[in-house]
Amino acid sequence: MLVKNGTIVNAKGMLKADIYLELGKIRRIGKNMKMQGEETIDASGLFVLPGMVDAHVHLRDFREVSKEDYFTGTSAALAGGVTSVIDMPNNSLPTISMQNLEAKKFVAGRKAVCNYGFHFGATPDNFEEAAIAARDPSIASLKIYMGSSTGSLLLDDFSALYCHLASFKKTITLHAEDEHAIRHFSKQHGLMENEEDLRGAKHTKATIHSKIRNEMVAELAVTRALSAASKTSAKLHFAHVSTKKEVDLISAAKRKKMRITCEVSPHHIFLDDSLTKKLGNFAKVNPPLRGKKTVLELWSALKSGKIDILATDHAPHLREEKELGYWEAPSGMPGLDTALLLMLDAVNKRRLSLQKVVSLYSYMPSKVFKIYNKGEIAVGKDADLVLVDLKAKTKISKEKLFTKCGWSPYEGTQIQGAIRRTILAGKTAYDGESVISRMGEGKELRFGKI
Ligand code: NCD
Ligand code: ZN
Repeated sequence: MLVKNGTIVNAKGMLKADIYLELGKIRRIGKNMKMQGEETIDASGLFVLPGMVDAHVHLRDFREVSKEDYFTGTSAALAGGVTSVIDMPNNSLPTISMQNLEAKKFVAGRKAVCNYGFHFGATPDNFEEAAIAARDPSIASLKIYMGSSTGSLLLDDFSALYCHLASFKKTITLHAEDEHAIRHFSKQHGLMENEEDLRGAKHTKATIHSKIRNEMVAELAVTRALSAASKTSAKLHFAHVSTKKEVDLISAAKRKKMRITCEVSPHHIFLDDSLTKKLGNFAKVNPPLRGKKTVLELWSALKSGKIDILATDHAPHLREEKELGYWEAPSGMPGLDTALLLMLDAVNKRRLSLQKVVSLYSYMPSKVFKIYNKGEIAVGKDADLVLVDLKAKTKISKEKLFTKCGWSPYEGTQIQGAIRRTILAGKTAYDGESVISRMGEGKELRFGKI
């Protein structure tokens, strides 16, 4: 395939040139290329980016396929310009044993329409399995839930946290919210232990969420993890940071040459807690949406390079679950269909450059998790590309979403920017309207050693 007349955008530069793709790889980059009989895509007026790499998604296969599965989740990815996803371990089956990992590989291998890899889940005692998993190239990292969220994975005990940090030989990804603090504030804000009182708590409003999981809850967990990492020299990646305090603590640790990276999720920079009044539990997510001031602080952290990657934390739940009372409704919102679109809109609003988007959502995730063949448009890299139009408009509407949950907190938003085509391994996988890639065409990602 020949992609002609587009502007190539890499994290480190832009170039107007043609790209020749062959056998799944980028073979040549040059001016005025001509290839007899070759499928040619005219990218005039478009920007050509390396396919996005989303390091934080929850695709819900096996037992929660009513919310999402490897086919619908990876379809949403392709429509959103994402060609590689890394699945979180908290869904049932939880990815906490090699047996469960093999089962997930089998199903993802048959259903995925984009590339996929896995994070392995930490439990209070699966140190040996985790050590084996670290040697498996399909494992990106060990995910530790320091605070409870969707699913049953939780490591609120210091000794288990310390042992995992001391023994796991790849990146460790942290959901950094302190469970003890969550429990304390839950009780303070009306969570009762017995059922009778729970009935009384039925009318609790979703706005309580950011008071329970307040900024201190995140700060405490980050502090604890950094202290443990300074003694164990673990390589840490902080998922979905949502406060300035976390960013400051992480930046200070980086200055001490600790091996630390962090991520931000789209909902923490494009939404704020005022939306909870309107959307109720549809806006309930862990960590919670923050105030407007914090959102602006996250934007300046992004601009000054203190945040390494963007990842959606795509966490689909059904409408009927979100319509339950506060204590029963699950946390999380979908994001794969919309993340790149929101970033294109932000580029048009001059909040950041297109190169920075590529850095945050393709180049740096590939670096952090050591996916050597992705994240860049260069000869020899994989031919995963996304063609975007900064001049066209897109309206986010539920009819056009590929996620099975069928809703988005951004519904009705007008975006300045559009995703025209997603190319996977040198073939059109999404043509701007439909997913073309077939089940099983997604390939298992390979993560290098640290
Ligand atoms: C995630 C989910 O639903 O799987 N929910 C969320 O609110 N972010 C779990 C998680 O990443 O915490
Ligand atoms: Zn999380």
